[in-house]
Amino acid sequence: MAAQVKVFDTTLRDGEQSPGCSMNLDEKVEVAKQLERLKVDVMEAGFAIASPGDLAAIQAVCAEVKDVVVASLARALPKDIDVAWEAVAKANAPRIHTFIATSPIHMEHKLRKTPEQVLEQTIEMVKYAKKYCSDVEFSAEDATRSDPEFLYRIFEAAIAAGATVVNVPDTVGYTTPTEMEALIKGIRNNVPNIDKAELAVHCHDDLGLGVANTLAAIRAGVTQAECTINGIGERAGNAALEEIVMALKTRQDLYQVDTRIDTTQIYRTSRLVATLTGSEVQANKAIVGANAFAHEAGIHQHGVLANKKTYEIMTPASIGLSENKMVLGKHSGRHAFEDRLVHMGYTLAKDKLDAAFEQFKILADKKKVVADEDIEALVQQKAADIPETYSLKRFVINSGNVITSTATVKLSHLGLDREEVATGDGPVDAVFKAIDKLVGMEFALESYRLQSVTEGKDAQGDVRVKIRQNSTVYSGRGLSTDIVESSAKAYLNAINKMYDHVKRRSEQPEGAEV
Ligand code: KIV
Ligand code: ZN
Repeated sequence: MAAQVKVFDTTLRDGEQSPGCSMNLDEKVEVAKQLERLKVDVMEAGFAIASPGDLAAIQAVCAEVKDVVVASLARALPKDIDVAWEAVAKANAPRIHTFIATSPIHMEHKLRKTPEQVLEQTIEMVKYAKKYCSDVEFSAEDATRSDPEFLYRIFEAAIAAGATVVNVPDTVGYTTPTEMEALIKGIRNNVPNIDKAELAVHCHDDLGLGVANTLAAIRAGVTQAECTINGIGERAGNAALEEIVMALKTRQDLYQVDTRIDTTQIYRTSRLVATLTGSEVQANKAIVGANAFAHEAGIHQHGVLANKKTYEIMTPASIGLSENKMVLGKHSGRHAFEDRLVHMGYTLAKDKLDAAFEQFKILADKKKVVADEDIEALVQQKAADIPETYSLKRFVINSGNVITSTATVKLSHLGLDREEVATGDGPVDAVFKAIDKLVGMEFALESYRLQSVTEGKDAQGDVRVKIRQNSTVYSGRGLSTDIVESSAKAYLNAINKMYDHVKRRSEQPEGAEV
């Protein structure tokens, strides 16, 4: 049997930390449940000290999942570790993940500490975390720009203090596969007690090498790979889970290691994360992009028809892409709808299921055929419901190619309905301006994307927007068979996320930010 590499997913922490990718508590729980179905070994559910919202979300995740280790991140500080423990204490298998920077530039300019002070703090804080939790991971932040000799000493000390996992983060995505391989081998050969702990790697993608560096580390002997779904994360993101896992599976001949991941859950996990974060994957993204299994060129199509292996190194079915689609329509009952959801991997609480079924019926009245993509879009929206500080009551548009577009929009806010009129450069612009007037704020529209959920003239328009308020970006999504309505809904969804975020931030204790 091939050796196993543990998969540590940090979509809910490092992924969620990236601009415009924030998720609320319900969304995080939904992703956590799917990560458990995917069979990740460890999920980092958040950074408990960052906000009371993060703390509550980690606790909610711990209550929901069973067959997986749940970790909270903590700086190597007592107050961080206290709150991290508060977050994961009730998990079936809790872990405290503590970190401190070890590179000269971070120690000098960020921490203003000498290497000896950093070493001492590591020992103290690993011991401190260990009093709470038997499973403690220690990360040497910016490890790839650290002095390897110092890394050997700090890892040896962390393991002696009780760390069960020591992690090598390429925090700024600076290293290369050859360097990474040498670093990991150096650690394995020079840390005398390394066999007493799991050795992990955590790569960022600033040079587009996150996955390559992770695979190089695996070849050199790490036993835990840290990654995120769709590669979301700080700046250029983290190493993508689906790419690491499918590379190991497809090239077992080379890597001779396996993971516990149920690869048939990859596609739906990717879709869920893309929808809930509003961070869509590019069409040519490896494994989960819309074109990843599409064969357009005639010569390729001919080859694939003759023998799939001519141009396919893995099957669509291996990541859970099914060609066997069943369609529903207006005569489909609740049972068929629920059955389809289970088949698609969704479990919704009763209230959300009721609401989703109601919307399915409305949609089925407008569209002859409701496809899996429609259901997926609808359900993912329901799973991700956020409080509607503002909701759309109605709108009227006057538009054409020889007149200025005018929109009249009525919104409901705190039980009161108000209406405003605005003109704009086209109907969508006019609607957004009317909403700005009603909300009393102006937002910078960072991006606007419209695509149809399925083919056909009666297809739903799926609008994704990103709006900026000060330095924070909020994503929103709206669905309707009317594209102006989906635009208004998407814009309001982003605004409501902003209100939700501001509310959660106002509950945050001072100085909690990192
Ligand atoms: O990139 C990084 O260094 C991290 C650590 C906190 C593990 O995310
Ligand atoms: Zn990171």
